[in-house]
Amino acid sequence: MTIQTPARQLIVAITGASGAAYGLRLIERLAQAGITQHLLISDAARVVLKQEVDIMLPDDAGATAAFLAQYLNVPESLLKSYALNDWFSAAASGSSGLGGMAIVPCSMGTLARVATGASDNLIERAADVVLKEHGRLVLMPRETPLSSIHLEHMLKLSNLGVHIIPAMPGFYHRPSSIAELIDFMVDRVLAHLGVDSEDMKRWGA
Ligand SMILES: Cc1cc2nc3c(=O)[nH]c(=O)nc-3n(C[C@H](O)[C@H](O)[C@H](O)COP(=O)(O)O)c2cc1C
Repeated sequence: MTIQTPARQLIVAITGASGAAYGLRLIERLAQAGITQHLLISDAARVVLKQEVDIMLPDDAGATAAFLAQYLNVPESLLKSYALNDWFSAAASGSSGLGGMAIVPCSMGTLARVATGASDNLIERAADVVLKEHGRLVLMPRETPLSSIHLEHMLKLSNLGVHIIPAMPGFYHRPSSIAELIDFMVDRVLAHLGVDSEDMKRWGA
C-alpha cells in the first residue's frame, strides 16, 4: 500500500496592524507556490485593508477567498476563507494536521492574546492550536515604538519557538519601490514557513 502525503496546507491570518499589503502579497506568493491556504481576516484588518489598499472585502467571510483569488489573480481552488467564529473549521483543531500558520501583519492586540492563550476568535484559537501541537507559527508584528508589554509578549512567544519577523525591511538591496520592500519581508516569512519560492532573493546568491 502506498501512503500518500497530503499536500501542505497553511493558515494565513491578516490582522489589524498597518501593512495589510504584506498579508496580500504573502497569500499571492504562497498560491504561486501551489499552497492551499485557510484565510482568516480580523474585523480590524478589514478596516485597514480599506484604508491602506482600498479593498472592501465581502461581508460574508466565506466569500473572501473567491474575492481575493480574483483580486490577486491566483487559483480560487487554493484559497478557503472562514468566519472568525467557525469553530468547526480545520484551523480550530490540531487533529486537522495543517502545516503551520502565519499572522501577517500581526497587531499587538492579537500578539498579546496569542501570548496569553486568550483564544477568543478563530485566529487566536488557530495560533493556540499550532502552539500546543508544536507546529510552525510565524508572526509579523508591526508597531513603533514598542512598549515593554509588546516586548515581553514577543520574548515569551520567541521562547516558545514562534518565529517573530517584525515588519522591518532592510535597505541594503537598494529597493526602488514599495513592492520590493514588501517582497523583502514576505521572502523572510516564506523562508521561515519553510516554503521554497523561485522569486526569493538570497544574500550572496
Ligand atoms: C489604519 C489602522 C492602522 C493600525 N495600525 C496598527 C499597527 O500598526 N499595529 C497595531 O498593533 N495596531 C494597529 N491598529 C490598531 C488595531 O487595528 C486594533 O488594535 C485592533 O483592535 C486589532 O484587532 P485584531 O488584532 O483583531 O486585528 C491600526 C488600526 C487602524 C485602523
